[in-house]
Amino acid sequence: MNYFEPFNSYIDLEKMKLSPEGELIIRKLNDMAEMYQNQEAVKESLKENPVIYKFYNVQIPEESGHLQHCISIVYPGKIGNEYYMTKGHFHKIKDTSEIYLTLKGRGKLVMQMPDQKSKVVEMKEGSISYIPPYWAHRTINIGDEPLIFFSVYRGDAGHNYGIIEKKGMAVIIVEEEGKPTIKKNPAY
Ligand code: PA5
Ligand code: NI
Repeated sequence: MNYFEPFNSYIDLEKMKLSPEGELIIRKLNDMAEMYQNQEAVKESLKENPVIYKFYNVQIPEESGHLQHCISIVYPGKIGNEYYMTKGHFHKIKDTSEIYLTLKGRGKLVMQMPDQKSKVVEMKEGSISYIPPYWAHRTINIGDEPLIFFSVYRGDAGHNYGIIEKKGMAVIIVEEEGKPTIKKNPAY
């Protein structure tokens, strides 16, 4: 039996900081520039190279009996008419699931099966989103404040960015007439 000491982490929603911090990963536009549709707008925004999102991974062993958990913060903004979003991924162990609890802000959670079937659910304060086994997932901030959510998934699930990094996802979320709109990804 492996002994592991119980512990707490604390999220400060105002300062948007987790303590202990764990592993903090910051993703700027240049880390995902090719994922946005409007490459002219990307070029322009790269002059500033804004932080698109960051996430705090609590330090947990990558073993099946454990639960990885983290706090993600997607900043508000757009590249062209496409909202700031996470890269998105499948899990390495494909038949593992995940739960997102939204703590602050407004977003859309885009999910996709390997056969390209897509599903989009709302994220708002208090929403608990279930990402079943096999579904890839990406988070989009459609509001004007940071979107903050807590996620939990199987300890050894891992992340597989490969296919989405190359192909993107089948649907994108863009602003049209001032409203978030789900569109087929023309580049898919
Ligand atoms: O485990 C998750 O699904 C989240 O914690 C994400 O990893 C986090 O939101 C960052 O997104 P991505 O891993 O797609 O860059
Ligand atoms: Ni995940």
